[in-house]
Amino acid sequence: MEVEHNHFSHLKKPLVYLPFQKIYAMSIVLKKGLRKPTAANVIYLIKSGTDLKGTSLTADEIDFVRKQHRAKHQVVELNRYKNVVYVVYGDLLGTRETRLETWRKNGNSTQHMIKKAQVERVVVIPVVANKEEVLAFTEGLMLGNYQFLKYKGDANKLRNSLTQVDVYMPEMEDADLDRVVLLVDAVRFARDLVNEPDSYLTAVQLSEEIKMRGEMSHAKVEVFYKNKIEALKMGGLLAVNRGSLNPPTFTIVEWKPENAVNSKPYVFVGKGVVYDTGGLSLKPSNSMDTMKCDMAGGAAVAAAVHAIAQAKLPVYVIGLIPATDNRPDGNAYTPGDVVMMHDGTTVEVLNTDAEGRMILADALSYAKIYDPELVIDMATLTGSAARAIGSVAMVGMKSKSDQEFDLLKKSGDLVHERIVEFPLWDEYKEMLKSEVADLKNIGGADAGAITAAKFLEHFTDYPYIHLDIAGPAFIAKRDSYRPIGGTGIGVRLLFDFIQSKVG
Ligand code: BES
Ligand code: MN
Ligand code: ZN
Repeated sequence: MEVEHNHFSHLKKPLVYLPFQKIYAMSIVLKKGLRKPTAANVIYLIKSGTDLKGTSLTADEIDFVRKQHRAKHQVVELNRYKNVVYVVYGDLLGTRETRLETWRKNGNSTQHMIKKAQVERVVVIPVVANKEEVLAFTEGLMLGNYQFLKYKGDANKLRNSLTQVDVYMPEMEDADLDRVVLLVDAVRFARDLVNEPDSYLTAVQLSEEIKMRGEMSHAKVEVFYKNKIEALKMGGLLAVNRGSLNPPTFTIVEWKPENAVNSKPYVFVGKGVVYDTGGLSLKPSNSMDTMKCDMAGGAAVAAAVHAIAQAKLPVYVIGLIPATDNRPDGNAYTPGDVVMMHDGTTVEVLNTDAEGRMILADALSYAKIYDPELVIDMATLTGSAARAIGSVAMVGMKSKSDQEFDLLKKSGDLVHERIVEFPLWDEYKEMLKSEVADLKNIGGADAGAITAAKFLEHFTDYPYIHLDIAGPAFIAKRDSYRPIGGTGIGVRLLFDFIQSKVG
């Protein structure tokens, strides 16, 4: 919290003076139940009607549950007035990945019914479900329970009722449940950052939030302010920032445990455009409405590194988050400008709305000092990616990283943050040739997600993966456990990928 506040006192002030929402106070307590409860609210997890024999339901109740299930209800509520019982049917068919996703979704449906019944505590009793499935169920339940209430008045603040979930399963370890809690908390952190409007979440404030979370995760957070960014000649980040009243930041989150299995770090780079108006190449206002989401990649990267640190995974990882807003102004960078980037490359700017690649390029060339094992960037980079595949997945491209890409894709399937691969063939680089500089910052009308990635690849010399999350980062309508607004996509993906390195 030791930011030089006086130093920035001339800057734009938040429109609403409220501290960042206290997410921990709102988290659900998830722990191991030690005794089989008798009169509590219970959630039974089963796979078929015959499993109901393993519950304490009466014959009439079993009848009712079976009928409801035949009418296609996966979660059945039995309100006994003194306590409520939920029976949740898992999936018997499909792959491991689809079954886990069904458990998450059922967790969300249960959470929804719990909210309606104003239940505060529940005990989960897996009748027929393995550990991994139970964890997926609790994950979906807790992810779905997220709310962003900071800007609502008390009268409009309908807080979810659930505060505690006990899991009664002898073979469950406390550590397994703790991992779900910390991962869900990380996703909530990322969602909060995305949902915070630009009036509060300036680049400096984004760095502050990441720093504060470091106190809890014990990842090391260092912030470069404008003078340091100038000294490093990060021309792309400075060019985008020229139209802004607020200075840029470059945040480094580092987790370097003594027992790390790798000596070369995994480096994550996240786009931190706290608001994207398009700059002088101004966006039409309807496509500007949701552009507070343009730091979703940065939020995911920061949240993931913090979660990895908090879980004390023995893997050396670094997150880099270049941040600024992108605005038109008297001093804004213009179409036709030529910018010298951090690595010395000159770029002809033909569209100031292609700002993400300008700030990411500087972070990608900066990443070379770490001699990284692999660099993964995550960015709400192109409308083109969103139009191609919508909000159900992200677009991925790879350079010199075939094996790692396959592993990342596996993680994506497992946590249901899926990656669709696009090609990164050299032919696409032709479209970035400039008459006056080394590169131009846009390609043609076609293949926009790919030419953006091709631009970024120019600034790398290491194994590299680019993830474009423009589609799934921010959604206009709730989708099961993904709430309206910021989804926190990418956090569970990066966490699982790193976790898979150590077992
Ligand atoms: N932040 C936008 C991309 C975006 C679009 C994110 C929709 C989330 C939802 C990015 O900075 C942008 O403006 N991209 C331009 C690039 C173009 C000018 C080459 C785009 O996609 O139109
Ligand atoms: Mn833009
Ligand atoms: Zn943008």
